[in-house]
Amino acid sequence: MTTVMHLNGARREVEAHGQRFLLDILRNELGLKGSHYGCGEGNCGACMVLVDEVPVHACNTPLWSVAGKRVVTVEGLAGHPAGVRLQRAFVEHGAAQCGYCTSGMLVAAAGLLARQASPDGAEIRAHMARNLCRCGSHLRVIRAIGAAAADRGAGGGQ
Ligand code: FES
Ligand code: FES
Repeated sequence: MTTVMHLNGARREVEAHGQRFLLDILRNELGLKGSHYGCGEGNCGACMVLVDEVPVHACNTPLWSVAGKRVVTVEGLAGHPAGVRLQRAFVEHGAAQCGYCTSGMLVAAAGLLARQASPDGAEIRAHMARNLCRCGSHLRVIRAIGAAAADRGAGGGQ
């Protein structure tokens, strides 16, 4: 079947069975390797993408369900309102070690800032609770997201 979605700012048609998972399609049909496979069960967040600005687990999201929707992966975050600020803040705060979880963290954070421009620490922690990091970078991730939120309107670009 043909599925049409709006992916990272461009219309994309995908010829694939609609029951295949979005993560599989992104990585193996569209060459977007930034979304990672971790648990494959919706528990770790390594595969997160935005679907109409909502962070979802691409590993258990069927292709058919994103037909007609706006999908943003980590590769498209530079074109997202909070994407550049988040990327800069993650670098400045050293919010990654091995980096395996980082794409999902960035996407989840972009979804938060799209919904709530100035979240407090508790809101950031609650929102990021679904994203796991085996390297223990959580505290730096939380600080980086807070910094990216504060950067808004302070010459922080997008
Ligand atoms: Fe999707 Fe873990 S790989 S939530
Ligand atoms: Fe290694 Fe998070 S930085 S899993």
